Amino acid sequence: MSPEDFETAAQFLKERSGLVLTRDKTYLLENRLMPVVRELQLRSVSDLIAVVRGGAPELQTAMVDAMMAKDTGFFGDWKPFVHLRTVVLPNIRVSRGMKARFRILSAGVSTGQEAHSIAMTIRDVSSSFPGWQIEVVGIDISASAIAAASEGVYSQFDVQRGLPIRTLLQYFAKQDDNWVISDNVRSMVKFQPWNLLSNLYPLGRFDAIFCRNVLTYFDLKTKLEVLQKLARLLVDDGVLYLGINETISGVTSNFRAVDPAVGIYASHRADRPASMSLAVKVDL
Ligand SMILES: C[S@@+](CC[C@H](N)C(=O)[O-])C[C@H]1O[C@@H](n2cnc3c(N)ncnc32)[C@H](O)[C@@H]1O
Repeated sequence: MSPEDFETAAQFLKERSGLVLTRDKTYLLENRLMPVVRELQLRSVSDLIAVVRGGAPELQTAMVDAMMAKDTGFFGDWKPFVHLRTVVLPNIRVSRGMKARFRILSAGVSTGQEAHSIAMTIRDVSSSFPGWQIEVVGIDISASAIAAASEGVYSQFDVQRGLPIRTLLQYFAKQDDNWVISDNVRSMVKFQPWNLLSNLYPLGRFDAIFCRNVLTYFDLKTKLEVLQKLARLLVDDGVLYLGINETISGVTSNFRAVDPAVGIYASHRADRPASMSLAVKVDL
């Protein structure tokens, strides 16, 4: 691929998705785009870039989708899920009380394992929330990942990564060689294709946001813009989960670190005297 083709593709991907590619990632660009090239029966990645440069919205979407790293797993880095169960959910039960409603966003949800893990964590303590309206929303720029997440069908390999056997048997049913998520988990989760660079307001507000292993692909400016948008979606006492070791200190003052080693942050508005952060353990 010529340096000009690389620059065109890298600039397009950054504008569209925030993904930053440096020249040493040329091999990655070629590897990920080759399946699209084959499917369209083009001759080379350069041909694909030429077509995309000329417009072709569907191919542009396919190119962005193909470039996304979608690695994920159930209960990935498990500590945030323990924090959700032992700190955030008990706090929500007390602080929301009469409202009996809460919402959690999984931003960059990939093929759905993270949102389903959140929903299973809530299901496990659902007897504490009788009659509550609970919603987990999973969004991702990749339409193919969102389609897979909505199906809720996982391979043996997928469920072997991070899912305790008890949880597997409790919330999944075997279907041929695969495992299908149960209806009582599925009904809590809504998946939608959505770009974090676009307007996020229509998603509504959330009590907790998971945005793990997504910001890492962005440059500092994009990271800051996305964090500002997420801060506006979060309620005053809300909690933000980032990936382990994804530090945002020095990037934004919208969040305050609660346990940065595990990626737990609180909305800075939780510092106001009237609101105590959901992220902080209190004796209830
Ligand atoms: C490495 S996966 C992380 C999945 C999950 N959050 C986890 O930690 O297990 C990153 C996901 O972020 C998504 N993504 C990247 N840029 C995005 C954007 N601008 N808007 C929405 N999703 C994006 C990718 O499509 C991919 O599915």
